[in-house]
Amino acid sequence: MNMNHKNNIQSSIRNPLITFINGQLTGADVVHQVKTLIELNGIFEDQTMFEKMNGSQIAYEVDVWCPVENGTEGGLFFGLTHLYPGQVGNEYFMTKGHFHAVENRAEYYWGIEGEGILLLMDKDRNTRAERMSPGSLHYIPGFTAHRVVNTRAGMLRFGACWPADAGYNYDIIMNEGFSKRIKNIDNVPSLI
Ligand SMILES: [Fe+2]
Repeated sequence: MNMNHKNNIQSSIRNPLITFINGQLTGADVVHQVKTLIELNGIFEDQTMFEKMNGSQIAYEVDVWCPVENGTEGGLFFGLTHLYPGQVGNEYFMTKGHFHAVENRAEYYWGIEGEGILLLMDKDRNTRAERMSPGSLHYIPGFTAHRVVNTRAGMLRFGACWPADAGYNYDIIMNEGFSKRIKNIDNVPSLI
């Protein structure tokens, strides 16, 4: 093989656009979002305690890669969430939680770092919980609200992959919540 031919082959192989390693998602197209505690106003049970806290503190950060336009049928999005440790009263920090706007759309979550609990609630408001830890893989079926709770003192990082046309319905959870909460009862995460 002459040198010219070899170079042509090499240049036709491009580097990845995005890398996902050591709990970090990196690349020019990755969008970084920050969710502060005040943006979670209303989701915690102890509102009196919530109002005493610093609303500008970070509850979680999300890195999202959307290789296709939002709403593209057949497309997939990829995300990495960094959920901070903390409590409001005896309730652990958690994500806002949502159903998908296109209700039948499913999603994968998987644990990367830290420990927590994935709360899943069906349309009949039956709530179940799955332990999340590095390597745990969670299939979230359609018609199922999902929220992640950080039950430990360190960061909880988890990955997500979902259909590009799933969208978000936050309203149901903002108005009615999940039917169960994860609370710290004598230092044991408990589903109540
Ligand atoms: Fe989702």
